[in-house]
Amino acid sequence: MKGVILAGGTGSRLYPLTSVTNKHLLPVYNKPMIFYPLELLKEAGIKDILVVSGGENISDFLRLLGSGRQFDVNLTYRVQDGSGGIPVALSLAKEFVGTEKFVAILGDNIIDKSIRSSVEDFEKNTIGAKIILKKVHDPHRYGLAEVKDGHVIGMQEKPKDPKSDLAICGIYMLDPKAFSIIPTLKLSQRDELEITEVLQYYVDHNDLTYEIFDGFWIDAGTFDALQSASVHMANKQR
Ligand code: DAU
Repeated sequence: MKGVILAGGTGSRLYPLTSVTNKHLLPVYNKPMIFYPLELLKEAGIKDILVVSGGENISDFLRLLGSGRQFDVNLTYRVQDGSGGIPVALSLAKEFVGTEKFVAILGDNIIDKSIRSSVEDFEKNTIGAKIILKKVHDPHRYGLAEVKDGHVIGMQEKPKDPKSDLAICGIYMLDPKAFSIIPTLKLSQRDELEITEVLQYYVDHNDLTYEIFDGFWIDAGTFDALQSASVHMANKQR
């Protein structure tokens, strides 16, 4: 399977750290943030990887990661104009992905446990889409999945009234149907297209499975989370 790392967006929650550079180039302990999703995909057996980022930064990613040879992966790059939301970035992967299932990962998600078995299970046994959920105590910060009797029955994106404490991690195992869903989406209240709306389509068509993740996961898109991710990675190496 192929992989996609979404590394666009404005990184506004990390200003001024992100005023002249891209969030995914910031350090998480001793590595640039993007190394973590890249190494996670590689460890899961995914070697053909597309990196999507904004035009201002794509050359920095190219300088940092090059062809991918130093990681033993093959990298392709695409530019996202502006920052219209995760599905907009994802839509740029359509030609790269072709007709096969694939894995997309948000470039600011730091995961410290292999996802190899989840990915292999998706590749061999699952149709539709598969997500990874993690129990959290601050559910209003994330996309959430409401689960009943082993099925996802609904989605919310950063709600004020969370119906669930299961955050949707930024790892999306998808079939290419995702690319025909994206053009049907409408802008959300924050004027973006939302990935939860893509997933809701799969819920509505009984085509979404999930796993609960029991490893370390953090969305490093805020100051506190960025620091926690660095501390975790530093402790791991001591
Ligand atoms: O981290 C998990 C959460 O990520 C999910 O639970 C939410 O459902 C999902 O919407 C997302 O929420 P965030 O508010 O954290 O998304 P953010 O805008 O920070 O974007 C996350 C990554 O997606 C970012 O690191 C790069 C990529 N992205 C984002 C936007 C808006 C793009 O590549 N292009 C974009 O236009």
